[in-house]
Amino acid sequence: MSLTPAFLDELRARTSLSALIGKTTKLTKAGREHKGCCPFHNEKTPSFYVNDDKGFYHCFGCSAHGDAIRWMTDQRGLPFIDAVKELVQAAGMEMPAQDKRSAERAERAQSLHDVMAAAAEWFEQQLDGLEGAPARDLLQRRGISDATRRNFGFGYAPDARGKLRAALKQFGDPMLIEAGLLISVEGKDPYDRFRGRLMIPIRDQRGRVIAFGGRIIGDGEPKYLNSPDTPLFDKGRTLYNLDRAAPAARKADRVFVVEGYMDAIALAQAGLGETVAPLGTALTEHQLERLWRMVDVPTLCFDGDNAGQKAAIRAAHRALPMLAPGRSLSFVTLPEGQDPDDLVRAKGAAAFEACVREAVPLVDRLWAHELAAEPMTTPEQRAGFRARMGELAKTILDPVVRSEYQAEFRRRYDEQFAPAPRRFEPRAPFVPRRPGQKWTPPPLPVTEDAKALRATGIDRVLAKAVLAGLIRHPAEIARHMEVLGSLRLADGALGRLFEAVVDVALEDRALDSARLVTILTNSGFEAVARDLLRADTMAYSFTQPTGDATRARDDLDEAIAILVTQPEVNAALADATSAMQARFTEEAFERQVALVREKQALELRLANLVQSNEDARAFDSEDD
Ligand code: UTP
Ligand code: MN
Repeated sequence: MSLTPAFLDELRARTSLSALIGKTTKLTKAGREHKGCCPFHNEKTPSFYVNDDKGFYHCFGCSAHGDAIRWMTDQRGLPFIDAVKELVQAAGMEMPAQDKRSAERAERAQSLHDVMAAAAEWFEQQLDGLEGAPARDLLQRRGISDATRRNFGFGYAPDARGKLRAALKQFGDPMLIEAGLLISVEGKDPYDRFRGRLMIPIRDQRGRVIAFGGRIIGDGEPKYLNSPDTPLFDKGRTLYNLDRAAPAARKADRVFVVEGYMDAIALAQAGLGETVAPLGTALTEHQLERLWRMVDVPTLCFDGDNAGQKAAIRAAHRALPMLAPGRSLSFVTLPEGQDPDDLVRAKGAAAFEACVREAVPLVDRLWAHELAAEPMTTPEQRAGFRARMGELAKTILDPVVRSEYQAEFRRRYDEQFAPAPRRFEPRAPFVPRRPGQKWTPPPLPVTEDAKALRATGIDRVLAKAVLAGLIRHPAEIARHMEVLGSLRLADGALGRLFEAVVDVALEDRALDSARLVTILTNSGFEAVARDLLRADTMAYSFTQPTGDATRARDDLDEAIAILVTQPEVNAALADATSAMQARFTEEAFERQVALVREKQALELRLANLVQSNEDARAFDSEDD
């Protein structure tokens, strides 16, 4: 079809984008633009903008953007040409005359759809027939209900070379070959591709059958045979079950990606319809984009075996360049040797949900994988690890996300390999270390404890030091009772210990350190408390066994002040940053800069706390 750029420009100019989008999405006028809640992802505050002058929409939340045609293809799910046709009609324009070849192509696509629909129907009939018995048995063994069987259009391809060819002969061999249903070999008659297989229709975004997957009934190779790529079917751009999963995913605000179609079907049968599957290949960029149009953080549920985990890491690496603020992946690792289908069949949807609750964020998955990949006992190995993490972060294109990753990796690295509470390089390098201290691999993935603390925005290294300080100087607890009570330390061992320390102090204000430790020991906190008292790994005056009491007290005051202020500043900064991303104004910019300064000031105060203690120590040792 001779759709020239000039024609499309004219079409865009004659289309009111806000009116078009406003038909299905509530928009309100905001200055030169219209805004509303984004129809491509689930949100409560509007970040979706439509600009009629530019003929463009953009979502600052999920980065969905495009023009009127894109709207019709992405939101309405129309093929490009249908999208143009509909817009042309609405604009009172006429389609340009078609040239002959493309008219043929469009017609052929239409009849390929007819071929696939007819084939799907025929396969379904065969499943009900005499020959379909072994396939029906297989479905039953796998716990597929009748309703699910109809719902997903299961069928059976008889074990013969020409039955489908004969049944669909009205379409003719060339069309059946193009649809991928017949295999043609030079000098021989074309023959049926799928023979003796349980047939699973693969649908496009609009629910039309575009391909098939065929599972062998007994044992044999290959276990699954898919349609080849055809004019209708592009494997790398298709996600199995997308047409049903997309509405369910938007509603549930989550989407699961599983490895196989049977997994997607089993989960749907168990009530988790928000599930898609790639078709036996690594997730492509296109598929990732498609997932992010449904939700911000799709959940990958790959098998616990080697292949599954490799696929998960590959997806993680591929996603990195495409990350955007708020947009990520999370990872569920299933028990070794079980896929979602096995799991829900054996233990029900609740067992799957339990695995989902253990999902780890992308950053954790990457970290854990690299950490486990090589031994990390020599400085060279650690340097290699550090370089690899740096390289990974560098592949992130979004500058804000990239710098967050770089900072996070640095923080984790410091915590992992130098257990000093430093967030900042002091002028005189000082690394307190236990004599003979050896690095041992940490548990993987990060502990609940760490996760919970991070979720509250509290600096967990500093929180630990403060806790150690309070155990060492219990008299100070009473003075800080109010602030300590307001600290939102989530669950986890450290949080419980914090509470226990405060509780004990509440009951008995005349505590000394030794008694506190005794009480904690009796309450089962011995290990944590003891660990916290190994204060020589923490470079604060209040964590030291000896020293100037007044100074310890002053420093502890300062540390607590920093501890409670930090999450507030960080939260305000995050808000300011997203406000500025949503709409750039001088005012928003000023506010962001001011908060960045405040954050830096806090970091400096914290560094000074370490620094001044080091100066004091240096002084002490000169005295010796
Ligand atoms: P799996 O081997 O994990 O199969 O392949 P499965 O889903 O657990 O199948 P069942 O439970 O044994 O029936 C996962 C996906 O990889 C693709 C298919 O898309 C399958 O759903 N695959 C697998 C193939 O394309 N060909 C194969 O030979 C095997
Ligand atoms: Mn399986």
